[in-house]
Amino acid sequence: MAKRVAVIGAGPSGLAQLRAFQSAAEKGAEVPEVVCFERQADWGGIWNYTWRTGTDEHGEPVHCSMYRYLWSNGPKECLEFADYTFEEHFGRPIASYPPRAVLWDYIKGRVEKAGVRSQIRFSSPVRWVQHNEDKDNFSVTVQNLVEGHSYTEEFDYVIVASGHFSTPNVPDFEGLATFNGRVMHAHDFRDALEFKDKDLLIIGTSYSAEDIGSQCYKYGARSITCSHRTAPMGFHWPDNWEEVPLLTRVEKNTCHFKDGSSREIDAIIMCTGYLHHFPFLPDDLRLQTGNRLWPLDLYKGIFWEANPKLMYLGMQDQFYTFNMFDAQAWYARDAVLGRINLPGLEEMARHSQVWRAREEKLEDDEQMIWFQGDYVQDLINETDYPSFDVEGVNKTFMEWEHHKHEDIMTFRNNAYRSLMTGNMQPAHHTPWLEAMDDSMESYLASS
Ligand SMILES: Cc1cc2nc3c(=O)[nH]c(=O)nc-3n(C[C@H](O)[C@H](O)[C@H](O)COP(=O)(O)OP(=O)(O)OC[C@H]3O[C@@H](n4cnc5c(N)ncnc54)[C@H](O)[C@@H]3O)c2cc1C
Ligand SMILES: NC(=O)c1ccc[n+]([C@@H]2O[C@H](COP(=O)([O-])OP(=O)(O)OC[C@H]3O[C@@H](n4cnc5c(N)ncnc54)[C@H](OP(=O)(O)O)[C@@H]3O)[C@@H](O)[C@H]2O)c1
Repeated sequence: MAKRVAVIGAGPSGLAQLRAFQSAAEKGAEVPEVVCFERQADWGGIWNYTWRTGTDEHGEPVHCSMYRYLWSNGPKECLEFADYTFEEHFGRPIASYPPRAVLWDYIKGRVEKAGVRSQIRFSSPVRWVQHNEDKDNFSVTVQNLVEGHSYTEEFDYVIVASGHFSTPNVPDFEGLATFNGRVMHAHDFRDALEFKDKDLLIIGTSYSAEDIGSQCYKYGARSITCSHRTAPMGFHWPDNWEEVPLLTRVEKNTCHFKDGSSREIDAIIMCTGYLHHFPFLPDDLRLQTGNRLWPLDLYKGIFWEANPKLMYLGMQDQFYTFNMFDAQAWYARDAVLGRINLPGLEEMARHSQVWRAREEKLEDDEQMIWFQGDYVQDLINETDYPSFDVEGVNKTFMEWEHHKHEDIMTFRNNAYRSLMTGNMQPAHHTPWLEAMDDSMESYLASS
């Protein structure tokens, strides 16, 4: 009987896996049967926007953490697929920081061209995965939300591509129960207009804090106070923006901070990150990690060392995204096809420790980017994923960092050269701070 592969999730990582197998089949390889289970009714992962928060129409937790007016926070030149360029998709070069709808369209374009949609079972959350010792395969239990029944099928390999930016990490702070306004996590943030004319407190200092704060500034928040646990972000913020130490206590609308200062606040948004959450995996198969560049127990950042027929895609903290997921998916595919032989458990663990030791010495974002670039290069060296200029991508990330530090409100006005086509991309027709319409039509319209 033909081998069977289960892919859990049809976001950018799971779709990369479908495309990887399809690309081998296109070149004449015999590939296993691949079945992708997707909890949502459509593909694209967190790029598939919904207005819903909390639970969806089936009572499932809403996966989407994206919001209206979300524009890419890094240059699209750094995430471009090496086998499907933006220019191929849109027919011409386009500006470097597209809004969500444009990127969603691009993600879909490649897999529509590959014709892999029929391999996906939508509205089908995976409920449980179990390894069968006797057959050395997996039983995967799935619920069909539309027809309302559950079933179990057997697979030789399982590839977990369920994302890790959807289950919010929500800390508690003394007195929050007395707060007289909205308290929410970034996962539930949808529309910055809700905070127009409000005094806003943001907790956290990473990408969600920076971007949600910037959106709220752009759409008219009265003031933004950003509270940090470790260190302030340190950008040149607008005048109505302040960085303060960690929140210690809340008394109705008064928020107190570690330095003894306090502010009157209308709404609190916790941009405090996400949990790796795999309720469908038993303890012996479940990755347990924080959001970092080198989670342990994953050989090459992919293979569950204790049972490498179970693989994970996209579980790292991410500078590199779409083309890193591709690099992983091509590598995972080649292990399944027997083109790459994996070492034994001890060697896998030793290899992971070498990368972890290197990760622990990284001191800043720039070093982290070069580290992740090395990882991507290491993977693509061993497969037929179209080779691309990883060093050029790293250098584009460096430019991006410098542009952000020059002016956090204008960095998205810059344009970069595609590392895949070599073509310089145009500047957007409207400065980001003035571009209120985030639709694809508006983005693609010429000025
Ligand atoms: C707010 C936000 C903004 C971001 N912006 C950018 C950006 O501008 N640029 C960038 O490159 N990256 C960005 N990212 C990073 C993002 O992680 C990646 O772009 C990408 O979406 C990761 O793809 P993924 O497939 O690994 O995960 P996801 O996109 O999360 O997709 C996982 C899929 O798995 C499905 N799933 C989950 N559990 C199950 C289950 N039990 N059974 C079946 N299906 C399941 C989900 O429904 C989902 O479709 C952003 C992340 C966030 C949170
Ligand atoms: N426009 C966009 O493209 C966009 C927008 C938003 C998010 N994103 C993406 O979304 C992903 C997730 O980003 P993220 O910012 O949500 O998560 P993250 O990068 O994991 O950062 C989590 C933040 O929460 C803070 N934190 C955690 N627990 C805390 C606590 N108990 N008290 C105070 N602070 C706490 C951390 O502070 P410490 O430093 O102290 O640990 C850190 O600043 C990233 O890949 C990012 O690129 C993209």
